[in-house]
Order: sequence, then C-alpha cells, then structure tokens
Amino acid sequence: MDLFHLRSLVILLSAVGCCNGQSVLPAGPLEGVQGKNVTFKTIIIPTDVGNFITVSWNFNGGSGLVPVVTSAPKGETVGAGYAGRVSLNSSTGVLNLASLTAKDVGDYAVTMVTSAAVQRTGATLLRVLEPVSAVTITSNLNEVVEFNSTVVLTCSAKGSFLTYKWLNGTTPLVTDGKHVTLSANSTVLTVAGVFRKDLVGPIYCTAFNNLESDNSAPFNLTVTYGPENIAMTVTPTAEIQKKGSNITLTCSAQSSPAAVLQWIHNGVPLSVVGPKLVLDNVAVAQSGNYSCMASNAKTLRYLESTTAKFTVVEAISGAKITGPNGTLVAGNSTANLSCQATTGTADARVWLKNGAALSPSNRVVVSADKSSITIKPVQKEDSGEYQCKLTNAVSTDSASLKIVISFGPETVSVKGVNSVKVTEPVMLKCAAVSLPAATYTWKFNGTLTGVMTAEYGIDAAVATNSGIYTCEASNAVTGLSTSVNHKLSVKGLIVEAVVVLNHLAPWLLGCLRTLTVIRIFYLQIM
Ligand SMILES: *[C@@H]1O[C@H](CO)[C@@H](O)[C@H](O)[C@H]1NC(C)=O
Ligand SMILES: *[C@@H]1O[C@H](CO)[C@@H](O)[C@H](O)[C@H]1NC(C)=O
Ligand SMILES: *[C@@H]1O[C@H](CO)[C@@H](O)[C@H](O)[C@H]1NC(C)=O
Ligand SMILES: *[C@@H]1O[C@H](CO)[C@@H](O)[C@H](O)[C@H]1NC(C)=O
Ligand SMILES: *[C@@H]1O[C@H](CO)[C@@H](O)[C@H](O)[C@H]1NC(C)=O
Ligand SMILES: *[C@@H]1O[C@H](CO)[C@@H](O)[C@H](O)[C@H]1NC(C)=O
Ligand SMILES: *[C@@H]1O[C@H](CO)[C@@H](O)[C@H](O)[C@H]1NC(C)=O
Ligand SMILES: *[C@@H]1O[C@H](CO)[C@@H](O)[C@H](O)[C@H]1NC(C)=O
Ligand SMILES: *[C@@H]1O[C@H](CO)[C@@H](O)[C@H](O)[C@H]1NC(C)=O
Ligand SMILES: *[C@@H]1O[C@H](CO)[C@@H](O)[C@H](O)[C@H]1NC(C)=O
Ligand SMILES: *[C@@H]1O[C@H](CO)[C@@H](O)[C@H](O)[C@H]1NC(C)=O
Ligand SMILES: *[C@@H]1O[C@H](CO)[C@@H](O)[C@H](O)[C@H]1NC(C)=O
Repeated sequence: MDLFHLRSLVILLSAVGCCNGQSVLPAGPLEGVQGKNVTFKTIIIPTDVGNFITVSWNFNGGSGLVPVVTSAPKGETVGAGYAGRVSLNSSTGVLNLASLTAKDVGDYAVTMVTSAAVQRTGATLLRVLEPVSAVTITSNLNEVVEFNSTVVLTCSAKGSFLTYKWLNGTTPLVTDGKHVTLSANSTVLTVAGVFRKDLVGPIYCTAFNNLESDNSAPFNLTVTYGPENIAMTVTPTAEIQKKGSNITLTCSAQSSPAAVLQWIHNGVPLSVVGPKLVLDNVAVAQSGNYSCMASNAKTLRYLESTTAKFTVVEAISGAKITGPNGTLVAGNSTANLSCQATTGTADARVWLKNGAALSPSNRVVVSADKSSITIKPVQKEDSGEYQCKLTNAVSTDSASLKIVISFGPETVSVKGVNSVKVTEPVMLKCAAVSLPAATYTWKFNGTLTGVMTAEYGIDAAVATNSGIYTCEASNAVTGLSTSVNHKLSVKGLIVEAVVVLNHLAPWLLGCLRTLTVIRIFYLQIM
C-alpha cells in the first residue's frame, strides 16, 4: 500500500510538473478521522498570499487521478463526489475536506499558479482513521480470591493505530514487573496473587491514536478475602455467671463476602449461626468453653476465635436449719443442727451463734463439711440463736434457728427472817434459776402445806408457826427438783406476859411465876 502510494505520488507529481521549488504541503502523512474533516494546510511565502490565479487539488486513491476542487478566475469547480465536502481558500490554497470515509485514503496534490505565472506544487498522503470506540476491559475471572487468583485484564477497542494506557482510579496505573505487569503492547494487565484493594480503582483503559482517545467503562472486581481478624466478646465478662442471667456473645471477622459465623460450645457446633449468640436465662449446663468459627464459602478459608470460658452457678436460696424437734435438757439431750439450701451449692458455710462466730469445743462439733453441728450434751449456755451462712460465687443465703435448753432448778434459796415476834407478819421467798420457770411447793415440818407459789406468807405469826419450812423448786421439763430448808422462830410471848404479871396481885404472882418458868423452859427448848 505504502509502496503503491509512493509510486502513485511520483506519477502524480510528474503529472503536475514537479520539482520547480519547494513543496507547499508539510511532510505527511496527514491523518483524519472517519466522518470528521481534515484540513490540508499549505506553506506559502507571504507575497504569494492572494496572488494565486488558479488553485487545483487532485486525488489519487489508487485508481487514477480525480479532480477534487479547482479555483480559477471564472469560479470554483468542485469534483464529482466532493460537493458540500470541500472548502478551499483561494488566497492560501488551504483545503478542508469533511465527512471523511475510507475512500478518501490516498494521495492528494495541489498545484497553484501565481499571477506571475509561477507554479507552486505539493503532495501528501491522507490516512483516514477509524474512530476510537468500544473500549472494553474483560477479565479472565469473575470471582477472585485474594492471594490465590491471577487476574488478567484485557483491553480491547475499535479503531486504527491504537495504543493503550491504564488508569487506577484517577492516576496512571503503576506496574512493578512482578505483582502488576503489562504486556508490551499494553493491552494485557496481569495482577498475580491479587490483593483485595488492587481492583477497586476503578480501573480504566484508554485507547488512543494521534487524533482521538476513548475510555472504557470503569471496571472493578470484588476480590474475596478472609476471614481474618476474628474477635469474640462476652457480655458481661465475668468468668462466673449467675444462673438465669442473660449473656450475649458477639463475633466478628473481616471477610468478603461476609463470613458465616458458627458458634461452638465445648467443641460442639450449636445451631446458632450469626454474629450474636444470646443466652437468655442461662442454665448451669451452659457453662463451658465458647468460640466462634468464621468461614468464607468463596475463599474456602476458615478461622476460629479464641475461647471464652465461663461457669454458670446457681444462686443459693431456701437456706434452712433443721434442728431437734423436742425439748432439749441441759446435760442430757443431744442437739443436731443441719443447714441445707433448696437451690444452689454452697462453697463456704459459716456457723454463728448470737451473731458471733461459733466456737467449737469437745461438746460442740462441726461436721467436716460444715453442713451440721452436733452439741452433745447440750448445756444451758448453748441456748441462743444459731445462724448458718451459705456462700458461693454468686450469692449468699442464711438461716437461723433459736435453741432453748431447759435446765434447773439451780441455786434454790429461801429468803426471809429466821425469827419473828408473835403477831408480826412473815414473808418467805423461794427463788430458783430454772428454764422453764420452776414451780414451788412448801412443807412445814415435813408436811405439805398446799402453798404452791414462790412466796410463803404468814399474816400474824403465832407460836405454832415456829418450825422448819421447806421450799421445793421443780422443773417439769427437766424433771429435776431441789429443796431448801428455812428455820423460823416465833418469839416474845413470855416478855409481854411478865409485864402483865407485874401488875397482878402478889398472891397470883407466885402461882403464875411457877407457870412462867415452865413456859420459858418450854420456849427455850424450842
Ligand atoms: C472540522 O472539524 C472541526 C472539529 O472537528 C470543526 O470545528 C470544524 O467546524 C469542521 N470544519 C468543517 C468545515 O466542517
Ligand atoms: C483565507 O485565509 C486567510 C488567511 O488565513 C484569511 O484571512 C481569509 O479570510 C481566508 N478566506 C476565506 C474565504 O476563508
Ligand atoms: C498485544 O500483545 C498480546 C501479547 O502480549 C497479544 O496477544 C495481543 O494480540 C496484542 N494486541 C494487539 C492489539 O496488538
Ligand atoms: C490501585 O490503587 C490502589 C490504591 O492506591 C492500590 O492499592 C492498588 O494496588 C492499585 N491497583 C493496582 C492494580 O496497581
Ligand atoms: C464496582 O462495579 C459495580 C458495577 O459493576 C458497581 O455497582 C460498584 O459500585 C463498583 N464498586 C466500586 C467500589 O467502584
Ligand atoms: C433476660 O432477658 C429477658 C428477655 O429476653 C428479660 O425478660 C429478662 O429480664 C432478662 N434478665 C436479666 C437478668 O436481665
Ligand atoms: C475448656 O477448655 C479447657 C482448655 O482451655 C479444657 O481444659 C476444658 O476441658 C474445656 N472444657 C470443656 C467442658 O470442654
Ligand atoms: C488458595 O491457594 C491455596 C494454596 O495454594 C489452596 O490450598 C487453596 O485451596 C486455594 N483456595 C482456593 C479458593 O482456590
Ligand atoms: C420431728 O417431728 C416430726 C413430727 O412432729 C417427725 O415427723 C420428725 O421425724 C421429727 N424429726 C426428728 C429429727 O425427730
Ligand atoms: C436423761 O434422759 C434419759 C432418757 O431420755 C432419761 O432416762 C434420764 O432420766 C434423763 N436424765 C436427766 C438427768 O434428765
Ligand atoms: C445430724 O443431722 C444430719 C441431717 O439430718 C445428719 O446427716 C447427721 O448424721 C446428723 N448428725 C448426727 C451426729 O446425728
Ligand atoms: C415443828 O417442829 C419443831 C421442832 O423441830 C417443834 O418445836 C414445833 O413444835 C413443831 N411445830 C408443830 C406445829 O408441829
């Protein structure tokens, strides 16, 4: 073709009478785009401008010389097929040819004759370029896996004499000869072991020739990756959780597409899939190790989180002390107090008595597991309020029981005078330490009196009240009783009688004195 053009150009130039002076056309080839126009510029000396009498353009497309347009003093002649397509400046010889087609490819020659009959000539080659269009990026893969896939992008376009450039976003794509490479003709972009951000650019391909360029549509490719950076959290974070509380576990991982998150309890996959595992009203059996497994069906990769461990502990409630049923008698009964809860398991048990730590002794023995205490035998000082406190990691509960030890009577005593004058009142008070309170009976000279109160009263003593008074204190519960004697003397009858006797007739005195001596004697031995 080129060779043919060169040959025809030589023929053309000789036909117009070449070579007297320089060519008025710049060295070619000249390029134009199909459907667009092209301007054939001329190089002329200033004095020639406007001094041409005739300007004549001819074309040779390979099938002989065809007139394009001629300007002469009588007017302009447009060649067949050029009507409306050409405009000629007769002052400069510049030709504009519009609506270019492939048929316009070929040699163009101009001959201009000045008023001084000097002939100026020139010839050039016109190339008509196909417009740049249909710039398209195609990928060898639709789904790509980070690190694994090698992506080959090919840019194709319609047009002539095309070269190619690539843009990554808005900046020219940078190759490194290893990870990102371009073919020598720049149509093939290869990304080996693609990274997730390599192809989000978006990537553009530009195809261009000397006259035109066109861009591809933005191209991007989602690179699947992950899962990675898996993280799992438990709320609340405590390692011991109370039974019935609500625990939420969350899991996340970086992944494209989003990872499937599978929950695992003690190595067993749960039916729960998703970023949240909600354990409402958690049970003891839900204690253990939790982890989540992230998997990506596209990358075929999976990743397990670290393990979170917690123990669910049931709160202690319904603590109760079971104590002895019947009455407890000091020195004789055995008391067994046992502390149990209806729910929960105690880690620690503490026994208190009347608010202070219970002190064990050879009588008070705490069982090895501290669940019961045995008091053998009970004594009166064991009475009081017993409390057991049950504690575990999540709760405390306590129970208490009052214990009453029956004892006595002890330290029985009778208070009251030992001697009294005739007619004076007497009050004897019997007292005893006892639980329950003692009941009393009184004997006089060994005979039951019928008095059953703590006090024995005499309104006005008479001589016959002298004697031994015995108080017996009894405790029906302990079955014990204790007696104490009290001696009472009623005095003063003789002294008064003597005063009376002194006023009596002397004859009576002798008689009475004899009686009185007897009486005094009697009183003295009493
Ligand atoms: C030639 O094309 C250019 C740009 O394509 C345009 O500006 C100009 O008007 C056209 N000239 C003619 C004569 O069609
Ligand atoms: C021809 O070209 C000259 C110089 O460029 C310009 O001044 C003149 O107006 C043009 N004439 C026409 C008819 O276009
Ligand atoms: C560019 O080069 C590749 C090989 O490197 C080849 O397959 C392709 O056809 C070439 N494309 C063009 C337009 O030259
Ligand atoms: C495109 O640019 C992004 C951000 O600058 C970069 O991470 C990526 O590797 C580039 N892509 C290619 C194919 O070079
Ligand atoms: C990638 O291209 C798709 C269309 O093919 C578009 O919907 C998406 O927004 C693009 N993503 C980016 C990051 O440009
Ligand atoms: C646990 O969650 C349930 C609702 O799912 C709620 O009714 C309950 O009060 C929560 N329990 C606690 C201890 O927060
Ligand atoms: C929980 O994991 C620990 C090791 O971290 C292991 O010793 C223990 O047996 C696991 N518990 C269960 C219930 O699987
Ligand atoms: C990615 O490459 C690794 C190692 O070459 C391979 O084991 C794995 O199966 C590949 N993944 C995919 C999705 O092809
Ligand atoms: C306590 O008394 C009840 C009946 O009142 C009896 O069933 C139970 O066995 C008694 N418990 C003890 C420990 O004696
Ligand atoms: C102690 O108890 C036993 C049997 O319960 C009884 O036979 C005995 O009399 C009691 N002794 C005292 C001092 O209460
Ligand atoms: C005390 O009572 C508990 C529970 O009833 C029992 O297991 C334990 O053997 C008793 N201890 C004695 C010493 O009787
Ligand atoms: C009671 O006994 C005393 C001696 O112990 C005696 O003197 C007195 O007369 C007695 N009284 C009665 C009423 O029996």
